[in-house]
Amino acid sequence: MHSRSSRQTVGRLVKLVLPLGGYMNLAVLFGALGNLAAIFIPVFGAYALLGAGGLREGAPLISFVWAIAICAAARGVLRYAEQYFNHFIAFRLLALIRDRVFGALRRLAPAKLEGRDKGNLISLITTDVELIEVFYAHTISPTLIAVLVSAFMCVFLGLIHPAFAAVALLAYVCVGALIPLTAAKKFGAGGREIRDESGNLNSFVLDSLRGVGESIQYGNADERLARIREMTAALADKQGAARRKEGQTVALTGAAVVAFSAIMVAVGVLLFRRNAVDFAGVLISTVAMMSSFGAVIALSNLPGNLSHTFAAANRIFDLMEEVPAVEEVRSERRVSFDGMSCEHVTFSYGAETRADAPTNILSDFSLTVPPKRVIGITGSSGSGKSTLLRLLMRFWDVDAGRILLSGEDVREVDTARLRETQGYMTQDTQLFSGSLLENIRIALPEATLSEVEEACVKASIHEFISGLPEGYDTMLGELGDRLSEGEKQRIGLARVFLHDAPLILLDEPTSNLDSLNEAVILRSLLAYGDEKAIVLVSHRASTMRAADVVCTVK
Ligand SMILES: Nc1ncnc2c1ncn2[C@@H]1O[C@H](COP(=O)(O)OP(=O)(O)O)[C@@H](O)[C@H]1O
Ligand SMILES: [Mg+2]
Repeated sequence: MHSRSSRQTVGRLVKLVLPLGGYMNLAVLFGALGNLAAIFIPVFGAYALLGAGGLREGAPLISFVWAIAICAAARGVLRYAEQYFNHFIAFRLLALIRDRVFGALRRLAPAKLEGRDKGNLISLITTDVELIEVFYAHTISPTLIAVLVSAFMCVFLGLIHPAFAAVALLAYVCVGALIPLTAAKKFGAGGREIRDESGNLNSFVLDSLRGVGESIQYGNADERLARIREMTAALADKQGAARRKEGQTVALTGAAVVAFSAIMVAVGVLLFRRNAVDFAGVLISTVAMMSSFGAVIALSNLPGNLSHTFAAANRIFDLMEEVPAVEEVRSERRVSFDGMSCEHVTFSYGAETRADAPTNILSDFSLTVPPKRVIGITGSSGSGKSTLLRLLMRFWDVDAGRILLSGEDVREVDTARLRETQGYMTQDTQLFSGSLLENIRIALPEATLSEVEEACVKASIHEFISGLPEGYDTMLGELGDRLSEGEKQRIGLARVFLHDAPLILLDEPTSNLDSLNEAVILRSLLAYGDEKAIVLVSHRASTMRAADVVCTVK
């Protein structure tokens, strides 16, 4: 984990927005003008009153009426423009960041996706990216707008009398910075806790729904219900507390606004007595001051505590900077498949990142996979069978020894060609939402229906599929939960058959099959083994009977 100071994090976040700097300037400009339009409505009103009362010489009444009308209309349009550009920037940036995150994932795959922090990866792609939106749409530009508007108002008031500018500056700093920052420090963790708590509640409810069968079976439904009630009450408590704290801050802000307005009037009266300003000056500056808090009050509504946004940003930057386990190779050389082999291979997970000596999954392991032979790999659970297959595919590089494809070190083989040469069936087959046909066709998008059917016959699943009312067009639910594990496994096999690579890597292809289906599939594999090299991983002795050579991983 890379550690950055918050300044560096803000620096990087701002750097991302630079290409959109023009839009950012527009958002800030429109926002500042919109605020000023709102502020000057009552100020022009005061001018009009002064003129009508004969207290001030100057422009005729009607021109102030016009000015007020124009400000009122402009206020709406400008506010819209500000929001438009803010969100335009934020969502453009989110798209850009997502694009970079997916780019990083593609670079880091497949090792990263096989890694153990899959859950974190998913929350990074979804929640973390969303969190950054807060920074872009609701933090940078309101801050700049408040600064601009406050500066303008200080100058305007300073022209009437410098003391007014001083009071105003104090008021803006207090309402826009001191109060919100103190509140954030005091109540900071609240929002985060509520989010965590409601996340926990959600997953508990989902979990309970999925496990309704088990809960009834083992009679602990009441217990789960009680727990849900408990969690709901706790969440409501936290939310109530947060609302009360929010209320306190709002009240404090309101009190500060009133207090500073009173101070302004007092200062005005003092200066008026000393003849330092005229009555018009006192009235205008008080009105201007009272109506000018909008921009700084907006700051007190900012997400008080940006530390979660920064933490999210840091996780994203870390991912973008992560070095892939293997660099992809591009090479023009094309050699036909002539077997694979491992020579004295030693491998452990995380050898390059861990300080303590990690345990070797494989040590001094050698294996030859000649063309057109079935090589069985067996060994106890956790011995490294799946790891071996992934090494043959170069998800990771070995720590010592070599892995060769047609006599060439895989570290020099064109990565795309390596993938073409190998067909891989994972331990658990993933099905996508879509039809069965689409699901099988991912192995070879241009395959014809009859080619798909042929692959399904070999995988002993054709009969099952044609028996469905909609056959190959049957749609799968998102979880594919309409199929049994064995059926999924056979679909995985059909994909491998369809892909038709010269080397086939099968990870426990029969683990969920009954002996009848196992026999059918082994027969298919044996027939296939006359033309393909097959590495068949299984801990089942019955499956190993299909292998020409059996090798045990320890
Ligand atoms: N991505 C990974 N990172 C760290 N350790 C892993 C990873 N994948 C597997 N392992 C560990 O490596 C060992 C071998 O795993 P695996 O090759 O899946 O065994 P098998 O397929 O023989 O059951 C196990 O102890 C497993 O926990
Ligand atoms: Mg395994």
